[in-house]
Amino acid sequence: MKYILFIFLSFTLIMCSNPKDSPLSQYASPDRNDTHSYAQPADAICTHLSLKLRADFKTKTLIGTATYNIMHDGASQIILDTKGLDISSVEVNEEQVDHKIEGADPIKGSALHIPLKPNSKQIKITYRTTSDAEAVQWLDPIQTADKKYPFLFTQGQAILTRTWIPCQDSPGIRISYEAEITVPKDLMAVMSASNTTTKASDGVYSFEMKQAIPPYLIALAIGDLEFGAIGARTGVYAEPSMLKKSVHEFGEMEKMLELAEDLYGPYLWERYDVIVLPPSFPFGGMENPRLTFATPTIIAGDRSLTSLIAHELAHSWSGNLVTNATWDDFWLNEGFTVYFENRIMEALYGKDYADMLSLLGHQDLTHEIKDLGSHSHDTHLKLDLQGRNPDDGMTDIAYEKGAHFLRMIESEVGREEFDAFLNKYFTENKFKSMSTVEFETYLAKNLLEPKGIEINTDEWIYGPGLPENSPVSTSDKFAQVEKALDTFSNTGDLPKDTITEAWTTHEWLHFIRSIDEDADTKIYRILDTKYSFTHSGNSEIAAAWYEKAIHSGYYKEIVSDIERFLVQVGRRKFLTPLYRALKENGDLETAKNIYAKARQNYHAVSTQTMDALLSE
Ligand code: BES
Ligand code: ZN
Repeated sequence: MKYILFIFLSFTLIMCSNPKDSPLSQYASPDRNDTHSYAQPADAICTHLSLKLRADFKTKTLIGTATYNIMHDGASQIILDTKGLDISSVEVNEEQVDHKIEGADPIKGSALHIPLKPNSKQIKITYRTTSDAEAVQWLDPIQTADKKYPFLFTQGQAILTRTWIPCQDSPGIRISYEAEITVPKDLMAVMSASNTTTKASDGVYSFEMKQAIPPYLIALAIGDLEFGAIGARTGVYAEPSMLKKSVHEFGEMEKMLELAEDLYGPYLWERYDVIVLPPSFPFGGMENPRLTFATPTIIAGDRSLTSLIAHELAHSWSGNLVTNATWDDFWLNEGFTVYFENRIMEALYGKDYADMLSLLGHQDLTHEIKDLGSHSHDTHLKLDLQGRNPDDGMTDIAYEKGAHFLRMIESEVGREEFDAFLNKYFTENKFKSMSTVEFETYLAKNLLEPKGIEINTDEWIYGPGLPENSPVSTSDKFAQVEKALDTFSNTGDLPKDTITEAWTTHEWLHFIRSIDEDADTKIYRILDTKYSFTHSGNSEIAAAWYEKAIHSGYYKEIVSDIERFLVQVGRRKFLTPLYRALKENGDLETAKNIYAKARQNYHAVSTQTMDALLSE
């Protein structure tokens, strides 16, 4: 017996000491090498974060400590990413050590080297943020909806978490976290974690995220917030004046959650809430787990822009459960999510509605390929972003070419088979990261080979442009819009039987997108008088109209409205085409004048893009 036990123990010891079998060994694979992080996860990783911060609105700094549990195989050091942080001390197992900060890359930031001993289990970093914390936007009361209290929000994706928390900022590394955040007493703090629904009288908030997530999903918002319930598992946080509107706008969220679960399996994050942020939020939405961060520009009053919520919700599977291993694999997050979003919208509103959304997406994709050049490497699904800002990969290629690729596979294997495959994919890979190579292998093993199907996956993933077998989207509703616009061009009026009152936002968007840019400004004036696009309360319609108006020259008559929009809204998706259109139209001066007034309202993500665009 003793003998057997001895053999067994030695065997286990050998197994454990074999570096190949350590949990760290998964990071050694070359296709998981993240060029945007200094971390060396094959040597040492952080596994749990305990964050303690105080938000000082007077000096606009976050001050406190980040304490990590770590795992290593006797490594001599652990490396974390930092950017613009003011680090005052580092402890290992509660004893101060000499840390080193190396490198100052304008994109990646600096590496924090912390020396380890074989028994090192915990590291603690005492630090404060600086005015270079690109993730964080500190807003003055005037920049909020209610204009009474200041506000703060963070945006971590892609590599900005390191500007407010020292961390191994790679999407291939996962940590659980807990946090204690102290804020001024009349404000409330929320995070991508378990949240309370009422203000704490002492201004101290505690959070827990038990599931392991990549650091880009750690998020914090602080403001005068209230909570409104939607369903048993869903609700909204917003400033008081925005709450009722928001609860109504997102009234279908609980149903969306149930429909998503019907498609791809149980929701594993317990609650799904949304926070409506001030208009400077640089994105439409950000899928911070348990708490999507959203722009107020989707509050249209008629629920017409809520596919964005379906998108962020879908990330609870594609992105948050199964995460792109590096930013070169970004399409695994976004392509899957656009596909999934469309399936949720189809389940909720039917095929006609989903077809309109996918056709708008298809138009975006064709424009993107034209902009990038049909032979550009940036039109490959698998990107090569080494030495560049991962933001450069945030194009419609990842989103729309990715979704088109999945729709193509769906049409080859049939919807039922594809859904079963996706279910299995999410279940078997949950709380893990995935590289493009790993996905290809998984797809071949679990779907293509068993079905005896051969498809041109390589061409889609490693080739440019849109392959021949791309699925074609059609929409009867859009065909009618085109007919109406034709008649309008010929007669100055829409056909008698067109009931524009019944048109959805998406039909209007298609209508506006289809207007001839070279048409006489008279046509623009007639349309504007008839349909008041310039004063539309729908941000998508207004932005699409402004872009057309700029290209046509009509904008000179509505430039003050365009300026108002650009000063108010900081969502990059709207800013880029409008400033670019002004520039391309030969009116860089107007663009620069507006930007001079608007810039102070924008988050760093947006100013970086606009600074580059307007200085070229
Ligand atoms: N995760 C993205 C936002 C993002 C991507 C932030 C890359 C930073 C780097 C989010 O899910 C997203 O895609 N938002 C879109 C909306 C969506 C409906 C296409 C947006 O903000 O416009
Ligand atoms: Zn997304």
